[in-house]
Amino acid sequence: MLRVGFVGWRGMVGSVLMQRMREDGDFSGLEPVFFTTSQVGQPGPDIGVEVPPLKDARDLEALKRLDVVVTCQGGDYTESVYRPLREAGWQGYWIDAASTLRMADEATIVLDPVNRHVIERSLANGGKTFVGGNCTVSLMLLGLGGLFEANMVEWMTSMTYQAASGSGAKHMRELLSQMGALHGSVAASLADPGSAILDIDRQVTQTMRGGDFPTEQFGEPLAGSLLPWIDKAMDNGQSKEEWKGGVESNKILATGDSPIPIDGLCVRIGAMRSHSQAFTIKIKQDVPLDEIEDRLAKHNQWAKVIPNDKDATLSGLTPAAVTGTLDVPVGRLRKLAMGGEYLSAFSVGDQLLWGAAEPLKRMLGILRE
Ligand code: HSE
Repeated sequence: MLRVGFVGWRGMVGSVLMQRMREDGDFSGLEPVFFTTSQVGQPGPDIGVEVPPLKDARDLEALKRLDVVVTCQGGDYTESVYRPLREAGWQGYWIDAASTLRMADEATIVLDPVNRHVIERSLANGGKTFVGGNCTVSLMLLGLGGLFEANMVEWMTSMTYQAASGSGAKHMRELLSQMGALHGSVAASLADPGSAILDIDRQVTQTMRGGDFPTEQFGEPLAGSLLPWIDKAMDNGQSKEEWKGGVESNKILATGDSPIPIDGLCVRIGAMRSHSQAFTIKIKQDVPLDEIEDRLAKHNQWAKVIPNDKDATLSGLTPAAVTGTLDVPVGRLRKLAMGGEYLSAFSVGDQLLWGAAEPLKRMLGILRE
């Protein structure tokens, strides 16, 4: 029986992972051990099977006794524990949600409906380090898997509309506080049907720009606005989030010396936990749209083709419709005015499910097979 240590299971991604594992009965047949950075010795979580008291997540001796570590604790933890644990001779499997190790040679980025063959090859070669991809990347590849599998993509852009959850739990709270502050500042005028909308708008803008507006997490207003920069700056004008789109996609697809150019512009918007993306895809040949739709729909059970009409789009292709589900709907599929080799598409996916927890859950499942 695999002895599996869970670190960071109480955080947002960790909680979603625990919930999904409970739903699918994944804990039975495992020997789970729960770790903590702050509450050593306290009782472990109720997961339907007996678990020992919480162990210290920095105790290398305790970690060394595990077959698998699954961590959603974040990059600082990975940074401080992974190397010392390996240097201490530990040869177990490390499954990680953080980006720290993603581009390391020894690590495989896991998204098994898309790169099961890459995962299998790594396991056969003794690979022991498996990392979940960036959320927009995983959601893009799952939605468009059929095109990549058929080697149809010459290049593509992804223009993102990323939810607050990608920044963290505190950011989600701040988004709601910002929404509440905006509403609160004009509630009386809103209730009066005779009030002037431009006065309301002026008040909202003033509130948003005011010193009391809650911006501690995002640094700037997000509610009623947007933030066209995510993560640090690279030295070429890209944000790090945009850089990840290209390098991680190509690593997941194992394109080696023939990378597919993938680039775009990443934007934070006021959605809670589902990321959306608009794609311009240069396909290698002028393939008919129905063949493209067919490939997308058949590639995996979660990619759902949404007909390109207004009703289907507005009811099925939004964060409001998708959040909390594993579906990755792909719609707005049409050839662009530039010609038959230029495809437009739009997708939405829950950033905490396929964007974070699900690939890790499934990697643990692969190790158990
Ligand atoms: N970097 C992503 C975001 C989060 O900021 O939305 C998860 O990969």
